[in-house]
Amino acid sequence: MAAIVVHGGAGGWERKDVEDVKEVLKEAVLKGFDLLREGRPVDACEEAIKVLEDSGLFNAGRGSVRNSEGKVEMDASIMVSDGRAGAVGAVRGVRNPISLARKVMERTDHTLIVGEGAERLGCAEPIEGREGTGDTVGCVVTDGKIVVAGTSTGGVKGKAPGRVGDSAVIGSGTYASDLGGASATGDGDRIMKVCLSYFVVNLINLGLSPMKACLAGVDLLERRTGGRGGVIALNLKGEVGFAYNTRAMPVAYRNSGTERVLFSGLDVE
Ligand code: GLY
Repeated sequence: MAAIVVHGGAGGWERKDVEDVKEVLKEAVLKGFDLLREGRPVDACEEAIKVLEDSGLFNAGRGSVRNSEGKVEMDASIMVSDGRAGAVGAVRGVRNPISLARKVMERTDHTLIVGEGAERLGCAEPIEGREGTGDTVGCVVTDGKIVVAGTSTGGVKGKAPGRVGDSAVIGSGTYASDLGGASATGDGDRIMKVCLSYFVVNLINLGLSPMKACLAGVDLLERRTGGRGGVIALNLKGEVGFAYNTRAMPVAYRNSGTERVLFSGLDVE
């Protein structure tokens, strides 16, 4: 079954933002789902994330937070269930870091390229930033044959220049296997210590539902590191999972069986 799930980051959403967030998440899901129907799952994942990056509502792309020197440095990664993967870290002046990650995957022999080396791959389209109130964004899609997962972020506000977080690290922020995929959000310095996305996908590989796998992943993150965050996942059957231990984590999803986009994680006080 074809399915898509996106997240707008585990963090502290304000109630006033909820309707805007829902609208952008819906746009991302619908764009991705149309591309899935056209048999283009990698495009579906990339384009859904581009909608979120361009919105300026989230801590990714146009909405990215600034580091301790007032500069925007972004991380992103993408992985396909056939084992292909690409990631970028600490890139500046790039409109869509997720597209740059895809370029690393498709046009180089490498998996992760950081800084200027990554910027030189292209997509250098300077953007006017606006610091979104949200958090990292991510997406997982399947067309029933392959799975694609991706994640994009501006990282942690006030971070040290050059700091790279989980969203650039395959296995931590993003992972996809033959049977499922995951995208994480939250405290990346702790998420990396439990390889959160790999952990969740591995549980799916072992037969757990995506929902149970995500719950176990967030439980591990909290128990082992005290970290705050969340994760979304899908399996090849199009079943969706999500879990978080923060105040909110906006999630939207759709599969061939649902007529409309469904939302969760937006019940903020
Ligand atoms: N999860 C985003 C970051 O820590 O960079």
